[in-house]
Amino acid sequence: MFSPVKLLIVSKTIFITGASSGIGKTTAIYFAERGWNVAATMRHPKNEKELIKYKTIKCYTLDVLEDKTIETAFDAAIRDFGQIDVLLNNAGYAALGPFEAADKSQIEKQFDTNVIGLMSVCHAFIPYFRKRKLGTIINVASVGGRITFPLYSLYHGTKWAVEGFSESLSFELKPFNIKVKIIEPGAIKTDFYDRSPDILKKEKLKAYDTYVDKTAANYLKAAASAPGPIIVAKTIWKAANSKNFKLRYAVGSGAPFILFLKRILPDAWFMGLVRRVLDRN
Ligand SMILES: NC(=O)c1ccc[n+]([C@@H]2O[C@H](COP(=O)([O-])OP(=O)(O)OC[C@H]3O[C@@H](n4cnc5c(N)ncnc54)[C@H](OP(=O)(O)O)[C@@H]3O)[C@@H](O)[C@H]2O)c1
Repeated sequence: MFSPVKLLIVSKTIFITGASSGIGKTTAIYFAERGWNVAATMRHPKNEKELIKYKTIKCYTLDVLEDKTIETAFDAAIRDFGQIDVLLNNAGYAALGPFEAADKSQIEKQFDTNVIGLMSVCHAFIPYFRKRKLGTIINVASVGGRITFPLYSLYHGTKWAVEGFSESLSFELKPFNIKVKIIEPGAIKTDFYDRSPDILKKEKLKAYDTYVDKTAANYLKAAASAPGPIIVAKTIWKAANSKNFKLRYAVGSGAPFILFLKRILPDAWFMGLVRRVLDRN
């Protein structure tokens, strides 16, 4: 039967960075299947085959390293959907290897992508959300934004930065009714472990080889048994629809338990546990 109330319900819209694969793509599909509009942004939308099948998903070019693409994608999504309710800052990758092997351009790119890029997207959205007095910013950090593992020093640096940035931002945006959420996934099976990492290596630097081989083998074992990205999409769904200002959402691969241990154990004990798991033969 005709319902005037139903006609007034406007679909919500989520704007996602890094929607070409893994957590971003799975989240785009999860939201579209539940009636949301999705602005799925990525570096190369021309290559996208799957998301274009959904009527309520539109793909836009966005490289977090290029401000112009952020502005253009934001304007286009507003034009196409009328409004944006949730920003999901998901784009990111890991530089993996001994810090000594990283050159300056690798260090800069890691921080420019995972931290400065995420901040640039926030800059594009905050004035809009502030004027609306409504909006949610969801930043994908990592369980690695609160604990650390070996050989990920640059990546951890970025994710700890995302944690601190997001937590502080949540204070100043609350008066404008803008919610800030941090998603903290544990290991999740995506391109993160094979296609995406920037492997830090220097031809003449052999001192770390044994350590790298041993640790990498243990990482591969952990990645092989990791869950798929759908559990993160479900957590992002919960965060996007939450009515309260809860900040942190740990998800997957024992992340909530690991963070619990981190909270209750002295640093030396917790780091001893990490060593026992990752440094073993
Ligand atoms: N998988 C895990 O175990 C795990 C755990 C904790 C946190 N996370 C975080 O989850 C997020 C998503 O990672 P994922 O696991 O889904 O890995 P993924 O499958 O490799 O996806 C990463 C996405 O980021 C995009 N991206 C990289 N650089 C970009 C740039 N300059 N501009 C725009 N997009 C860019 C990639 O685009 P291209 O396709 O163009 O490369 C891709 O869409 C990342 O922030 C990651 O740090 C992952």
